Amino acid sequence: MEELLMILISSVLVCVPLYYYIFKIRVNGTKNERLDQHKLPPGSTGWPIIGETLEYLRTGKKGVPEKFIADRRNKYKNSSSSSSANCKVFKTSLLFEDMAVLCTAAGNKFLFSNEKKLVKSWWPPHLDKLIFADSAPDEKAKAFITEESTRFRNTMAPYLKPAGLQKYVGTMDTFTKKHLDMYWEDGKDDDQVIKAHPLAKKYAFTMACRLMLDTEDQQVFTKLENLMKDLSSGFTSLPIDLPGTQFNRAIRGSRQLREEIKNIVTQRRIHLSTRKVDEDVDGLDMLSSLIMDTGSDGLGLSDSEIASKLYGVIVSGYDNFSSTLATIVMYLAELPHVYDAVLKEQRQIAESKAAGELLNWADIQKMKYSWSVACEVMRLLPPNSGTFREAISDFVYEGYLIPKGMKLNWNVHSTHKNPEYFPDPEKFDPSRFEGQGPPPYSFVPFGGGPRMCPGKEYSRLKMLVFMHNVVTRYRWEKVFPDEKFVWDPALVPTKGLPIRVFTHNKSQSN
Ligand code: HEM
Repeated sequence: MEELLMILISSVLVCVPLYYYIFKIRVNGTKNERLDQHKLPPGSTGWPIIGETLEYLRTGKKGVPEKFIADRRNKYKNSSSSSSANCKVFKTSLLFEDMAVLCTAAGNKFLFSNEKKLVKSWWPPHLDKLIFADSAPDEKAKAFITEESTRFRNTMAPYLKPAGLQKYVGTMDTFTKKHLDMYWEDGKDDDQVIKAHPLAKKYAFTMACRLMLDTEDQQVFTKLENLMKDLSSGFTSLPIDLPGTQFNRAIRGSRQLREEIKNIVTQRRIHLSTRKVDEDVDGLDMLSSLIMDTGSDGLGLSDSEIASKLYGVIVSGYDNFSSTLATIVMYLAELPHVYDAVLKEQRQIAESKAAGELLNWADIQKMKYSWSVACEVMRLLPPNSGTFREAISDFVYEGYLIPKGMKLNWNVHSTHKNPEYFPDPEKFDPSRFEGQGPPPYSFVPFGGGPRMCPGKEYSRLKMLVFMHNVVTRYRWEKVFPDEKFVWDPALVPTKGLPIRVFTHNKSQSN
């Protein structure tokens, strides 16, 4: 009996570690074997270093970026290692990185819902350099774009979500009216020609400064706008940081813009410190609210932290938002029946108001058709082509290995013009956004998941306020009927979109 017990104990002592050892090997072995069984997604990494970047840029410049993806989906459809013959992912090399492009709505969902589980956000290093301009050693200053983006969202959410935005509708309306008075209607003869895209940029930037920095000082606008133009040119220039290059000028613009914003914050803090304690706190503008907000820790944010967040909002919205406004202007000029339907909706809202009464949040909720039109515009001409993620561990997607460190791209051009999701994709049809709307994750101009654009609601509001004012005052026509938008690599009209503007009361067409 004693012998039996000894055998039992010794077998437990020897065998358990042995089993564990064998088991562990098998677990690891299975895991490695499982991953090793899989190939990388099909595709070509093109030329050394530049990969397929030029081809990607070329299709964008021709106005057909979806072709880059459709060609590859076609080419690799039969090499799919999953049961389906559709190509759901392909490999390429863009921006000096090997990259897997996930090219279905399910792929978008996969990337959006695996943030910090399988993937994390990744930006090409030259963009990081441009935005942070090497001048922001403070890690919090990178909050809106790096892993710290949650902090940006937490701080700015109260201002960028519907509840926080509601009180700014009237300010946006007043500001838009002034902008149109100054730049669309300068008191000269009717049928004047204006350039819609540069004006949309001015509108986007000055409106952001009005709301975020609480300034309407034209000198401040001009100074900051020039810095913004320098910075923005860096997004599309060669990333060569040498004295005299455009990219170098852009980095300096970025640094100075951040400094100027910080100065405005500091001046406002000084001003606020002298205010009477019983002044209305609810009536504070966005900048003052951020300064006065002591947060949950009771400490509040420093001037450079506040400046960094305001800089994030002002810079992130500039190009995307202004391109979208310009594309809306273009489609409304090209499609009179759509323009008429938008005008009808907006006139009903205008007529329901007392003379001089400004737009409010309830009015915005009535602009359903106008919003469907804006969505259809963003489906056909999305200002942001998509962003990047990086695999944080090895994983298998649709039967293919995605090794740790590999970059991944979700791309609006995979789904926005794909007939699987949008039948007759070239047709301009705002009714796609009525009822249930498009299939989930197929319409993604603002991205999705935890990294979804935090400026979505703010952009929606500004677009609708703009559409209301512009259609209730004017009709317009394109000076160059054939002018198109292309991705160069930002979405731009080839000639700046000059339009001939007619005010309603003088217009022959009314
Ligand atoms: C039509 C206008 C706009 C479009 C189409 C747009 C689109 C996008 C897209 C596609 C992303 C990437 C999302 C992702 O990676 O999943 C993004 C990120 C971002 N957007 Fe926008 N955006 C617009 C306007 C704005 C505005 C006005 C702001 C200002 C608040 C803004 C702030 C940001 C920020 C801070 C991020 C980075 C979020 C992060 O990495 O966590 N955007 N936007």
